[in-house]
Amino acid sequence: MSAKKTPRPDTVITHAGRTPEDYFGFVNPPVYQGSTVLFPDVATYRQASKQRYRYGRRGSPTLEALENAISTLEGAAGTVLEPSGLAAISIALMSCLSSGDNVLVVDTAYGPTRNFCDKILKRMGVSTTYYDPSVGAGIADLIAGNTRAIFLESPGSLTFEIQDVPAIVDVARQRGISTIMDNTWATPFFFRPLEHGVDISVIAATKYIGGHSDIMLGTVSANADHWPSLHDLHGTMGQHVGPDVAYLGQRGLRTMAVRLRQHHASGLKIANWLESRPEVARVLHPGLESFPGHDIWRRDFSGASGLFSIVMQRGPQMAVDAFIDGLDYFGIGASWGGYESLATPFDPSASRTATRWQAEGPAIRLHIGLEDPADLIDDLEAGLERWREAGGTG
Ligand SMILES: Cc1ncc(COP(=O)(O)O)c(C=O)c1O
Repeated sequence: MSAKKTPRPDTVITHAGRTPEDYFGFVNPPVYQGSTVLFPDVATYRQASKQRYRYGRRGSPTLEALENAISTLEGAAGTVLEPSGLAAISIALMSCLSSGDNVLVVDTAYGPTRNFCDKILKRMGVSTTYYDPSVGAGIADLIAGNTRAIFLESPGSLTFEIQDVPAIVDVARQRGISTIMDNTWATPFFFRPLEHGVDISVIAATKYIGGHSDIMLGTVSANADHWPSLHDLHGTMGQHVGPDVAYLGQRGLRTMAVRLRQHHASGLKIANWLESRPEVARVLHPGLESFPGHDIWRRDFSGASGLFSIVMQRGPQMAVDAFIDGLDYFGIGASWGGYESLATPFDPSASRTATRWQAEGPAIRLHIGLEDPADLIDDLEAGLERWREAGGTG
């Protein structure tokens, strides 16, 4: 084979993890359904290293195809699959923490991540300290003698604060503290945590990797230092993802680059349009120059996905309901990252402890799907009219 240059992200997304030569030339890996794996003789059964697959829970070609693809994309030593993004976050945290330890968690982390820390980690004897997403190198002041891990999520859930990942990682490295990042929003297509020195990268593959709102799946990828303990915990806890889900994950992955480029372009176009509207007090989109974390986003990220929020001017709840209920193309539903647009109201006040959420009016999270953005703008424009008719200001 000719000497190859390092492939670019689109090429990695198209080819990584695929071995058609193992499957009679079929482009995609077959879905291996199975628990029992047979051995040719007792000698092979006795010696673990003699046979590649030994039991369904511990791996199959279907699962490995996706694990290898994600590892290549992340630049990781290894990847484990988890039955949801939240399960991926939980196991990543557990792989770094033991009883008596402390973890620093960004205040704008996904709500259920906080819940896991406040309930389960606490019960295991691990304390959590929440920190302001704008902390940067100031994270050093929060490190206690027993701090063993720092959890990052950038942009933050719902409100999209951008973290200075390299500054935080620098401090963590100097102090021998592990870093874990929830990179679901950007995916490694727009931001590669391990390249920025993060030890463990987590993706809720339910979102853009699946891409079609039809699976629940998480991935955890680790660098060489952190891979052995993550891999061991995954096996010890008996974690396993069904082959149909893994198959759909790898199928979704193959088109992720083109989908993300469209989410980026449509999302920015609509965010810019919303910014010009008098009914909208603020647009929380890292790609807008007006957004406080924009410079760091531009320095570190190569794009934005389709999820952002708007803060409305003052208005009653019925005006928010009228706005959202009448939308033709935006569904009302949790999750995001599929091909379709979504709109949901939110109030993050109750899930912040290190910072205070202050807003001009009610807030709405939008996921911009793959529809024609002109149709989405028409839809939102009619929604803003309903907002005013129902007593919203602007
Ligand atoms: C930023 C972020 N991380 C993790 C998750 C959890 O993913 P899952 O729903 O697959 O558990 C979500 C889900 O909405 C999310 O928004």
